[in-house]
Amino acid sequence: MTSTLAFDVEAVRKDFPVLAREVHGKPLVYLDNASSSHKPRQVLEAEREFVEQHYSNVHRGVHTLSQEATDAYEAARSTVARFIGAQHDDVVFTKNVTEAINLVAYALGNPGSPVPLGPGDEIAVTEMEHHSNLVPWQMLAERTGATLRWLGLTDEGRLDLTNLDQIVNERTKLLAFTQVSNILGTENDVPALVARAKQVGALTLVDGAQSVPHQPVDVAALGVDLFAFTGHKMLAPSGVGVLWGRGELLNALPPFMGGGSMIEVVQMTGSTYAKAPERFEAGTPVISQAVALAAACDYLGAVGLDAIKAHEVVLTARLLDGIRELPGVSVLGPDSTEARGSAVSFVVDGVHPHDVGQSLDDLGIAVRVGHHCAAPVCRRYGVPATARASSYLYNTEADIDALLDGIVQVQRFWGAA
Ligand SMILES: Cc1ncc(COP(=O)(O)O)c(C=O)c1O
Repeated sequence: MTSTLAFDVEAVRKDFPVLAREVHGKPLVYLDNASSSHKPRQVLEAEREFVEQHYSNVHRGVHTLSQEATDAYEAARSTVARFIGAQHDDVVFTKNVTEAINLVAYALGNPGSPVPLGPGDEIAVTEMEHHSNLVPWQMLAERTGATLRWLGLTDEGRLDLTNLDQIVNERTKLLAFTQVSNILGTENDVPALVARAKQVGALTLVDGAQSVPHQPVDVAALGVDLFAFTGHKMLAPSGVGVLWGRGELLNALPPFMGGGSMIEVVQMTGSTYAKAPERFEAGTPVISQAVALAAACDYLGAVGLDAIKAHEVVLTARLLDGIRELPGVSVLGPDSTEARGSAVSFVVDGVHPHDVGQSLDDLGIAVRVGHHCAAPVCRRYGVPATARASSYLYNTEADIDALLDGIVQVQRFWGAA
């Protein structure tokens, strides 16, 4: 479907039954999409139809349902692959993006790794990573004796690239970074980071959890080696994520988990492994969730990722402009929509973020509060936590206005105005 840079938001909203709900007697204003999105009827119906009519285990039966389920599962893989500009065999289904990143971190440390790590080697990340793209690398460094280094942040909430050449250097074996920050909203300069990694022969892994749901992503065009994202933030159910990798790299990586379906020949003395993607899908995979993820890709594709991005830019600009007018409220992260996603973290002077979240909930407005699994970012900016509003395709300008009005009410309630 072609993108028109405009779509009927009210028609989209009708596909999401939960948006008709009230919370505490007020119409629900759902602005917690960076944490998890809601699911449209089309996705729920696709999963239900599959489970009701075609469900069986996959890749291990000759009966009709087993064949149908396998066909649906592999068709889902093709749909997801097309959605990110990839080949079918280069898409691995995982439980979530966290598992996808851990898969790579474990595989790289296993015997037979194409990139063996040891003392003197370095892994580079950034200070804005979600814990999912930080802790697995800390653990890999601990296991192998490699050193973890990171790119810091500017006061404006962008990556500080002034010492890129020192942090990503001849000793760097892997550079892992997020495309869009879940806490700051910052969109990173993927080509610049990939170019530097290529100069020194380091692999790149990009966390696309906050980009794939919101903007067109073509992994081949990005030039990265590995890319991961998660279904529940993009209209699909929880329990499914994706690791994409360059085919020859995936097939060179040793497995992460052993078990059924990931093998070629098994003998008591040892086993050989299937090619990707099966090599990384040990055990019964996430079958119906993968089918639902493909339906979510179809839904997003039909609305148009360019149009969704354009819609979110309008909402984000309105929110940033509105907050700028509110004394005692500040944004953590870029203050313009330039190279930025829709997650807006903010702090209300004199009111703890948890109280902000609680009081907004009393008004029917759902935002996330806390460190957003990015504790080093809060530490960098000297705040214990933030409140975060994050819009998606079904949010409206009225939602943003309700939030801005809600923040004023919160200030009054807590005597902070
Ligand atoms: C940038 C980023 N990376 C990783 C994750 C982890 O996602 P999941 O819990 O689905 O593995 C999130 C979720 O908040 C995220 O925003």
